[in-house]
Amino acid sequence: MKQRKILVTSALPYANGGIHLGHLMEAIQTDIWVRLQKLRGHDCVYVCADDAHGTAIMLSAEAQGIPPEQLIERVNREHRLDYADFLIEFDNFYSTHTQENRELSESIYLALDANGHIARRNINQLFDPDKQLFLADRYITGTCPKCKTADQYGDNCEACGSTYSPSELINPTSAISGATPIEKESEHFFFTLPAFQDMLKTWTRSGTLQEPVANKLSEWLDEGLQEWDISRDAPYFGFEIPAAPGKYFYVWLDAPIGYMASFKNLCQRSDYNFDDYWSADSECEVYHFIGKDIINFHTLFWPAMLSSVGYRTPTAVFAHGFLTVDGTKMSKSRGTFINARTYLKHLNPEYLRYFLAAKLSSGIDDLDLNLEDFAQRVNSDLVGKVVNIASRCAGFIGKGFDGMLSPELDNPQLIETIQSAQQDITEHFDQREFGKAIRLIMALADKANQYINDKQPWVIAKTDRQSAELQAICSTGINAFRLLICYLKPVLPAMATDAEAFLGIEPLMWNDIQKLLLGHRINKFQALMTRVENDKVEAMITASQQEFAAQQIQETKVQSDESGLESEIVLDDFARVDLRVARIITAEHVDGADKLLKLQLDVGLDRNGAALTRTVFSGIKSAYKPEDLVGQLTVLVANLQPRKMKFGVSEGMILAAGPGGEAIWLLQPHSGAEPGMRIS
Ligand code: 2FM
Ligand code: ZN
Repeated sequence: MKQRKILVTSALPYANGGIHLGHLMEAIQTDIWVRLQKLRGHDCVYVCADDAHGTAIMLSAEAQGIPPEQLIERVNREHRLDYADFLIEFDNFYSTHTQENRELSESIYLALDANGHIARRNINQLFDPDKQLFLADRYITGTCPKCKTADQYGDNCEACGSTYSPSELINPTSAISGATPIEKESEHFFFTLPAFQDMLKTWTRSGTLQEPVANKLSEWLDEGLQEWDISRDAPYFGFEIPAAPGKYFYVWLDAPIGYMASFKNLCQRSDYNFDDYWSADSECEVYHFIGKDIINFHTLFWPAMLSSVGYRTPTAVFAHGFLTVDGTKMSKSRGTFINARTYLKHLNPEYLRYFLAAKLSSGIDDLDLNLEDFAQRVNSDLVGKVVNIASRCAGFIGKGFDGMLSPELDNPQLIETIQSAQQDITEHFDQREFGKAIRLIMALADKANQYINDKQPWVIAKTDRQSAELQAICSTGINAFRLLICYLKPVLPAMATDAEAFLGIEPLMWNDIQKLLLGHRINKFQALMTRVENDKVEAMITASQQEFAAQQIQETKVQSDESGLESEIVLDDFARVDLRVARIITAEHVDGADKLLKLQLDVGLDRNGAALTRTVFSGIKSAYKPEDLVGQLTVLVANLQPRKMKFGVSEGMILAAGPGGEAIWLLQPHSGAEPGMRIS
């Protein structure tokens, strides 16, 4: 077999947020593919990095009161740990904010310029006069010029779907400072993409892309391409453009170059040679795994830039769909926007690797993580089928034969059937049809279990624990198990390592499928995978919800710190407050409390006509004598969650306000009001 030299990347995560299940789906897909190639004996390198530049990262660092360098360094450490704990085996995980990337970005830009592929012209853009920065579309809100819906972001309206230039918005506002943006002119640098129309028409149709992706690109190519704005004005966190003070490379220019930079960094501390992989006549293969939302960057701008400068273009770009959870987009409030770390606190990473593998295909359709399906699939396939084979056979081999497998198999045909599936399984994995590969592997696991059911080794063991037949049956089972583990190794590397220890064998390689394990001593069996427990899945969702709530409180605090006011609420928030007229029946001092009075309130009748009363502790003692309050009407927040206080439970709150001391006034409705009346 000719050893292939393959370089693989997955998309660079932005360095201002955590790794979540969406990132993981892509990393897991890529990692499985890379592990397969490595197991087959190919020289496959997998690099990635953090995408560290851009306005969002600059603003995020500013909001946290730290320099961007500090933010991206912390996030980089977190990202590495998150990926590592999901068993993503990068050969290098780097950052775009590095010397290698600066040098490569500058040299590529200078070469583009020398080739006449950089144009310069002035453009008008909205500018935030308070923050002194140009506003990208997503940082501008306003009223849709077509349908007049308020609070629309950027250049399209969510209500009516129309698109426009952000300067056409009515009452445009900077989402960063709240200021009204002004139009301002500045010089921008453009990559002359239209010059690559013919090159791209050929490249996109040369087997480099999936069918639906190539079709979409054909439409764009037929419509004609636009020049691509690659510069941003200061302040910007990124690389300054050579000989252009105050102008920076747009983050999307240096991001894909980050793939090269990460590889270059690896070359500096290994035997890999940069030019072997990137020169125009390279015989190595380069693959990018990406989400379908960033296809244009990878299949238009990127190959065009590479070809202008004289580097090779990617062998193929593999796009995938989005991850949904329980049928919808991941939602923070529903708790289905799940961070890598949150998942890891509750569940085994290999559950997710297996589930995704079972559902992944080579297409660009979205993939749904249905949480019930998730638990059921992992439990039934991995625990119920694969591990079950070993656990049903290992005990008899241990007890009756001191761990020794038989010199011959009871059922060589079964083992041959499993071995002969290798070509199809390899093909499916190689074509990224992971779901098909898994279905085939599980069908083989079913066959092995059926064989054990038919042979009933436990019945034989009852009469003779040391019969040669029993040993040969269980050894057949163990051999089947070994082969299935080998097939699953790209997906479940940790479980495979544990299985190798149990089997007492060297790390499995793909061509070990053709070998057998005979007359060999295995070790004591230990559970290789436990069941997914539903309460753990639920705990993960609850934890995600709580993280979101905590984050919102944090953000509210930051906002109120800035304005001096509490954060804005909408009318609906206010309408949820149930205000009722209440009559004070009794009012008394509370032992040991300086400020509180204990009030018994008459709140009218409940739905069944029974008297509704409430006990409320209220901090109005400095302003009111208890005896003056009895018989008075006031207003109660009736749906406030009861709160346990030192002196008892307070079942609501009465409305009183004032700076304190004697200056506190109880809200008092007119005397004709009746207890229980709802006030709006
Ligand atoms: O969309 C994103 O999350 C980008 N950070 C991906 C960059 S991929 C590459 F081009 F660098
Ligand atoms: Zn509209």
